[in-house]
Amino acid sequence: MLKIGMIGAGFVAGFHERALCSVRNVEFAGVYALKGADELAQQARRDRLGDTKVYESIGALVKAVDVVCLFAPNFARLEIMREVARAVEGGAELKGIIIEKPLARNMREADTLVRMAKAMHIPTAYFENQIHMPCIVQARRQLGQVEQAMGAAHLARSAEEHGGPHEPWFWDPTTQGGGVCCDMGCHSIACGMFMLTPSGKPLDYLKPVSISATMALLKWGKEPWISQLKERGVDYTAAPAEDYSSVSLELRDPETGQRSMVQATNSWMYDAPGLRLLMEAFGPGYSYTVNSLQSPSGMFISDAAAAAVTDSELALEKSQATRGSLILQPNESDLYGYVAEWIDALAAFEEGRDALLNLEYGKLIIMLIMAAYMAHEKGKTIDLTDPNVLNELEDYIPLIQQGHGKKVL
Ligand SMILES: NC(=O)c1ccc[n+]([C@@H]2O[C@H](COP(=O)([O-])OP(=O)(O)OC[C@H]3O[C@@H](n4cnc5c(N)ncnc54)[C@H](O)[C@@H]3O)[C@@H](O)[C@H]2O)c1
Repeated sequence: MLKIGMIGAGFVAGFHERALCSVRNVEFAGVYALKGADELAQQARRDRLGDTKVYESIGALVKAVDVVCLFAPNFARLEIMREVARAVEGGAELKGIIIEKPLARNMREADTLVRMAKAMHIPTAYFENQIHMPCIVQARRQLGQVEQAMGAAHLARSAEEHGGPHEPWFWDPTTQGGGVCCDMGCHSIACGMFMLTPSGKPLDYLKPVSISATMALLKWGKEPWISQLKERGVDYTAAPAEDYSSVSLELRDPETGQRSMVQATNSWMYDAPGLRLLMEAFGPGYSYTVNSLQSPSGMFISDAAAAAVTDSELALEKSQATRGSLILQPNESDLYGYVAEWIDALAAFEEGRDALLNLEYGKLIIMLIMAAYMAHEKGKTIDLTDPNVLNELEDYIPLIQQGHGKKVL
């Protein structure tokens, strides 16, 4: 039975608490956060996930658990990892460290996190839930023989869209790392690459050849949206971020030489029900598709009844409406792959090894995200086989992340 400790008690920690209700042999033992820890611990106790305690410091939490999860905002990653490392130096024994997506805001930070975990000799998990989505994993399993007979998929489209993040720090490119490309492009690029990776091969098997990207600020730079953001403390007249991103990533199979393409599209202007994940993969003679809004469950709430709605997000993440014809997804933590990513990570930690996705993999995704920003900034396709380009990416901080998005949006 592994004891879990969460750092951060916000949106994603709540999702993980629900996911843990479907995971065996785990105790949600403790939580530390600047805000929300009491509520999360209470919920976990109500769900019988353990005697979940609130800790007053990262050091105290780390000493009391086997697995620590970094579920706090992107800008706090390094500082929190340093606290974890101090606790480990002080004698805390951890079996695993989990970090949510995106691993970091840029390559320098990603590299520091990877080096720190290596120095601690502790197995890691990079939490990218979409690669664990049962509808994708099962489609791939079902198509396994077909793939062997016909060859691997050559085109993947992957999109995540919603109406915009819930907290101001996500909107601010200096604290989050960018706009929607950093926030959600990390999902879509990783998932697209996974959909093209031949079965049985490691997830970093395909070699990135080139990347091109178009980013724009389409909705949230206009009135009344820009003023709404200003009221929440985010100034897109001074430091805007992209609310639209389209990335094309070309890959090469190092054994067969086959080329394949990922098209990753993301937006924060999906003024439609909630959040939509849309994926499709095409191989020679076969394909599969995923649309997370196709649910067997629906609801209707009339204007007269709408006042009684408590929380529309209970039905669907990022839900934008409380009345009319609505979509209900009764188990989003399973649908989006959270349950499966926990099962994978905990089994790996029990065996003393990294999860399917480790921090090095998270760093690879950050490299591709940085290359996408560079492609947009330079207005040209980036050659990912050129050692000079890869060198440049190591220290590259996108203008948008620096707060100079006005120059490129
Ligand atoms: N996998 C997904 O689909 C998904 C979805 C949402 C968020 N995320 C990721 O999860 C992370 C957290 O996002 P969120 O939506 O939960 O954010 P949030 O703002 O809702 O919650 C952040 C939590 O961290 C706490 N916190 C802030 N600074 C801290 C610090 N220095 N030390 C300790 N706690 C601190 C806050 O008090 C809060 O409890 C981000 O990296 C985000 O990218 C992933």
